[in-house]
Amino acid sequence: MTPESHTTTDTDDLGVSPPPGCPAHSLGPGGLHRLYGPEAQDLGALYERLRTEHGAVAPVLLHDDVPMWVVLGHAENLHMVRSPAQFTRDSRIWSPLLEGMVKPDHPLMPHIAWQPICSHAEGDEHLRLRGAVTGALTTIDFRSLRRHITRYTQILVNRFCEAGEADLVGQYADHLPMAVMCEILGMPDEYGDRIVHAARDMLKGTETAISSNQYIVDALGRLAAQRRAQPEEDFTSHLVTHPAGLTDDEVREHLRVVLIAAYEATANLLANVLRTVLTDPRFRAQLNGGQMTVPEAVEQSLWDEPPFSAVFAYFAKQETELGGQRIRKGDGLLFAPAPGNVDPKVRPDLTANMQGNRSHLAFGGGPHECPGQDIGRAIADIGVDALLMRLPDVELDCDEEDLDWSESIASRHLVELPVRFEPKPQQDVMEKPGLQPVHHRRTNWQVGTPVPEPAPAAEPAAAADQAVTAPAAPQQPVPAAEPVGARRPGAWQRFLRWWRGY
Ligand code: HEM
Repeated sequence: MTPESHTTTDTDDLGVSPPPGCPAHSLGPGGLHRLYGPEAQDLGALYERLRTEHGAVAPVLLHDDVPMWVVLGHAENLHMVRSPAQFTRDSRIWSPLLEGMVKPDHPLMPHIAWQPICSHAEGDEHLRLRGAVTGALTTIDFRSLRRHITRYTQILVNRFCEAGEADLVGQYADHLPMAVMCEILGMPDEYGDRIVHAARDMLKGTETAISSNQYIVDALGRLAAQRRAQPEEDFTSHLVTHPAGLTDDEVREHLRVVLIAAYEATANLLANVLRTVLTDPRFRAQLNGGQMTVPEAVEQSLWDEPPFSAVFAYFAKQETELGGQRIRKGDGLLFAPAPGNVDPKVRPDLTANMQGNRSHLAFGGGPHECPGQDIGRAIADIGVDALLMRLPDVELDCDEEDLDWSESIASRHLVELPVRFEPKPQQDVMEKPGLQPVHHRRTNWQVGTPVPEPAPAAEPAAAADQAVTAPAAPQQPVPAAEPVGARRPGAWQRFLRWWRGY
């Protein structure tokens, strides 16, 4: 970390009644900004203003004007999560909480309230709880996981493929991770519209959020009790029987963390990648050139739109310095992947692709680094791949500017992703997702390794279409050899291989 000299602001002073005339302590330019209300309509823009005004670590106000730091620098975020001697995730030392500034009905209370879960624990207790979670995760067989994911993609696409239109958030991205997580946890029968709705409702914090939460907690409590009585071969049984000896409450709470954190993050990721593949000219250009595989598109999305924009929170265990700011013992700091990933020090050119570079902050780092990232990536990879195999002519059914997001400090969720395509027949869910022979043109995106250059044509637009219209027919030229060092073959190439039986 290379600390810089920025305006020094003690959070002790971040009250609602700053000393008159002090620019660093007043609301507005050069002073404090609220991460809520009208000023925070566009959090991305606000973070950039904060970076200009304060540098890598900025003082902000949460709801009820509770003081907080937001960490904007890539290096500073990494330093914080990797320094457990200086920063903890245990909110019980947070000064505004101890001083009664945070009311019990504070909107961030579900994130703030300490719970006996690995996310809030540290030291030996963290090792014990996290050890049980990672121990249970390592028992997951990735081949069967990939089979489950593929099967659910088939089930979901079958629900709308004959209609010729769909909302890929409500009908796909919001469902696939929940279906897979229910399967992993050992409660496939609980998967359905009801649990998806309950999780979404809970995350939105609507007036029915408490009963939705209760619905999920009850389902997980029942599952934990059943597996305690009779273990099976699933994540929950391995969690229950792990030598760490988790109590019933600990088991239920960790099932909840895993289900909800995994669900929300993966649903956001899947929706973001689908949107990017459908709309982003950088991807179109690269995909047409055949250099961008779906896993690379997923990684680029983890840089550009991390599924958790910010994680509440880390707390200073002692007086320290971060990004040129003096941090007091008991101060709270938001770990913020969204602004950290676009820090100009690591990404001077945001349009440059980050191919092969996985050093983004989307999965955190240090002792609390996400243990489920391979599962999240697998759901997104297969989810995008399978959808494109089934609906290769899928295209956005609205102007990109008309897409809506719901945004909070924690995440940015695409509300809807309307698409259209030629109606397709259903497929056997046990089959590999594929293209039924269709004879219409493909649109101008292509996911995969290089396809041959089209023959020169009089009409450039027609040539571009031809290059990617590749019908699933034997006369299609054999794709060019994969470049040396190429990663996993793209969807189209794998489809061709499968089609030709090699
Ligand atoms: C794209 C998908 C995902 C993203 C972006 C994501 C991101 C994150 C982040 C940012 C953290 C917090 C790191 C910190 O506190 O510093 C985290 C923690 C965690 N994630 Fe994930 N996650 C994803 C999927 C999953 C999945 C699929 C699972 C489980 C199957 C999972 C389980 C957990 C657990 C248990 C923790 C707490 C770890 C600890 O505190 O030691 N996540 N994740």
